[in-house]
Amino acid sequence: MEQDTINLMKIAAGKAAVDSMVKSGMKLGLGTGSTAIHAVRRVGELITQGALRDICAFATSFQTEIECEKLNIPFFTLNSKELSAGLDLTIDGADEVDPLSRLIKGGGGAHLIEKLAAYASSAFAITIDESKLTERLGNGFPVPVEVIPEARVQVTKTLDKLGADVILREALRKAGPVITEHGNIILDVRFREPIDPSLMETELNQIPGVVENGFFTRKVPVVFIACSNGTVETRPAV
Ligand code: 5RP
Repeated sequence: MEQDTINLMKIAAGKAAVDSMVKSGMKLGLGTGSTAIHAVRRVGELITQGALRDICAFATSFQTEIECEKLNIPFFTLNSKELSAGLDLTIDGADEVDPLSRLIKGGGGAHLIEKLAAYASSAFAITIDESKLTERLGNGFPVPVEVIPEARVQVTKTLDKLGADVILREALRKAGPVITEHGNIILDVRFREPIDPSLMETELNQIPGVVENGFFTRKVPVVFIACSNGTVETRPAV
């Protein structure tokens, strides 16, 4: 598919999610990535137009913080008295979405804070284009596992015993691995046999040295799916 078409689909998904779910006065988690950023931009647009007021946002990454700064969206830490670790809604993107609306996230390496936001939110919305839909999580996209640097080899061995192949995520314009916003590395993990993502979300986090993994199975989102025919389908949270 043409890049322009994909971009239009991402814009449409973000607009649909914001227009139908964001209300004035909300404490709002804002996700990361090339799709989530369009939801952030729509929030900024509505604030500028005066159609949205009194938004207290939480940005899930430096990318999102910088966009909030540009758009004058007021943002706070989750520990702030304005948010006090409670969000009304988080809108984010995803790398894969299965038929139960379970997710793989972390293509942008922000899944640690994205999960904090999602699981601190009363409602959760995911914006994707239709290429992100999959019958089984892990079919096309590895699950990212954020690990403290000291645990790289130990965690890799444990994952191998759990039946997974592991690739250390390399940086693009820096030699060596990606270093996350919390000083960790990312292992991209592919299971050799089908696994249960809900069980694996828990099991991965029990490995010493693992900080967080990219399976999101405990918070069912509303999913806004932008289709190539220009429509946006809404799959409710059930
Ligand atoms: C970042 C994420 C992103 O939301 C996910 O990778 C999707 O990104 P994009 O919309 O650019 O494909 O989880 O950590």
